[in-house]
Formats: sequence, structure tokens, C-alpha cells
Amino acid sequence: MQGFVKVAKMHELTPGERKLVELEGVRIAIFNLDGDFYAIEDVCTHDGGPLVEGDVLEGGQIRCPRHGARFDIRTGQALSMPAFSPTATYEVQVDGDDVWVEAPF
Ligand code: FES
Repeated sequence: MQGFVKVAKMHELTPGERKLVELEGVRIAIFNLDGDFYAIEDVCTHDGGPLVEGDVLEGGQIRCPRHGARFDIRTGQALSMPAFSPTATYEVQVDGDDVWVEAPF
């Protein structure tokens, strides 16, 4: 799968689970939301908070553990202050039991 990196097995990432990986120096948080996989850069655009450590809220949102900004895990969009800019998203593909994420570069 060109341009993608294998990052997990499906059974490691059951619905509601998350995993942090680092690819080429970029921290990427991978989420399983009700069976669908998403990947966002693990950097809050307010002040660099580790999004993977936040609470997952209804509607596929993650709340930054530092100051509470909310982001849409599916789109990376910032949904509340104090963050205004989106965080990067990466495509995720599943092949058999393997979860692959788009390489950041
Ligand atoms: S670092 Fe995330 S809300 Fe401030």
C-alpha cells in the first residue's frame, strides 16, 4: 500500500480505543469510532496539547486535556475555543487485520 504505513492490528483498536504512533517525527493519534478509523495529528493547535490523552465525547469529538478545546476526530476541525485552527488529518485504510495510516510526508 504505497504511501501508507502499517500501524496496528484491528483487534488492538476495538471501538472506542485509540493509539498513538510516531511516523517520521509526527505524532499521530488513531481512533476507532464505532468501527470506523480516523487519524489526526496529536497536536492541539492552541498550545500543542496531546489530543490522544483527551476525553472522547459524543459525536466523534476529542477534548484537549490542557485547556478543553474540542476537535472533530473525523475532520480535524476545531470546534471550540481556545483553538481556532484544525489539526491535520491522515487517511486510514484497513486491509484484513491490518490498520494502515497515510504517511505524513
Ligand atoms: S493546548 Fe489544547 S486547548 Fe490549550
